[in-house]
Amino acid sequence: MVKYGVDMQQVDCLEDAWIWVEDGRINSIGIMADLSETTRVQLLQNATAAVAEHPGEFVFFDDFNGVTFSSLVCLADKEVLPGFVDSHTHIVFAEPRTEEFKLRIQGAGYEAIAAAGGGILNSARKLQAMDYEVLLAQARARLHWMVAHGTTTLEIKSGYGLTVESELKMLRIIAELKKEFPGIIKSSFLGAHAFPLEYKGREEDYITALIDEMLPLVMRDNLADHVDVFCDRGFFSPEQTDRILKAAKSFGLPGKIHANELGITGGVQVAVDNNAWSADHLEYLGDEEIEAFARSLNSVDGETVPVALPGCSYFLGIPYANTRALISAGMPVALATDFNPGSSPVCSLQMVWALACTQQKMLPAEAFNAITCNAARALRLENQVGSIAPQMDANFITTSRTNAVDTIPYFFGKNHVEDVFILGNRFGD
Ligand code: NIG
Ligand code: FE
Repeated sequence: MVKYGVDMQQVDCLEDAWIWVEDGRINSIGIMADLSETTRVQLLQNATAAVAEHPGEFVFFDDFNGVTFSSLVCLADKEVLPGFVDSHTHIVFAEPRTEEFKLRIQGAGYEAIAAAGGGILNSARKLQAMDYEVLLAQARARLHWMVAHGTTTLEIKSGYGLTVESELKMLRIIAELKKEFPGIIKSSFLGAHAFPLEYKGREEDYITALIDEMLPLVMRDNLADHVDVFCDRGFFSPEQTDRILKAAKSFGLPGKIHANELGITGGVQVAVDNNAWSADHLEYLGDEEIEAFARSLNSVDGETVPVALPGCSYFLGIPYANTRALISAGMPVALATDFNPGSSPVCSLQMVWALACTQQKMLPAEAFNAITCNAARALRLENQVGSIAPQMDANFITTSRTNAVDTIPYFFGKNHVEDVFILGNRFGD
């Protein structure tokens, strides 16, 4: 499921509902009133017993009305939402950049810090020096923070390595997390995150090294699902981005790029022209960018999804993406955390949801669709995750909030997620 434009205001809800999960997938969903009287009575009796004996726990019973269930979990008085999808994160990093945080509070600019060798290059120096195991343990801990806040599907980028060795180290950490995590993790090769200092004055050589050396190794070991480029002022130009996207395409890798965070720089157009799956950030958007996105709706390869990152706008004090204009243009807008140490150290899509409502004037339902089914679309996973429907992965979260779609972003800053189910199993059990 994907929600385009004004349809983003729609959320379909079932009251007094059941979900039948089989082999990690949703077999069917329905409401209690549709069940036979006997089935309903038996289910309610089992549920009541479950609540009395083991509140919030599974009840095991077999051969129920001719169907063998292995467990029943009673979610009376809970609301159940699809697990959230975070389509843009950088959770493999060495250390927080709190020194830069304090410098920015005192007036230093993000771009000035980067131009002086801080920012991404600061993170790269630290990551290059840190052991695989330590980095892996830290990334795993951050992944668990995200899940505790409701995320069950995510993308993770490289980009703090910037050498063959360290980019591969990052991608192998992501590959390890993919293996151990029950939900889906997708990885993006972001070697084009910043130019290493040693390439100053010969930036084209870095692009050549990236295309001729790094990319073939990444693909040889099957370490990336997408390619990413930081296409922006002071980083990679649209021409350089185009070269990288085309090289990646020759390996079958789709693009998901960083565009228009620091200015109107042609990033959206280069994304659309290369059929990128998404263009993310979009703090600066003009009419031409909106038109380019709308043009992508006619592409046979599917549209380029606009992904806004309000955590970054909040943390850097830069404009918020004009998601209202994108919705008016009929786009399926998505939202992500951009969880990273420099511009958006936020793990919670609930917080992003709240910021999108108050700062981008998205209605709660629009922002909910933007962190579920539309975020799944940004990863081309909309037929597998991001909604509760037959055949979808059984990924959902529970909350005691009533009218959760409106009240979660309203009571901002609190974690409203109680239990998280991935492929039908409660995470952490
Ligand atoms: O998405 N904009 C580029 N990359 C990251 C931030 C990188 C950093 O400052 O560490 C982002 O904002
Ligand atoms: Fe990012």
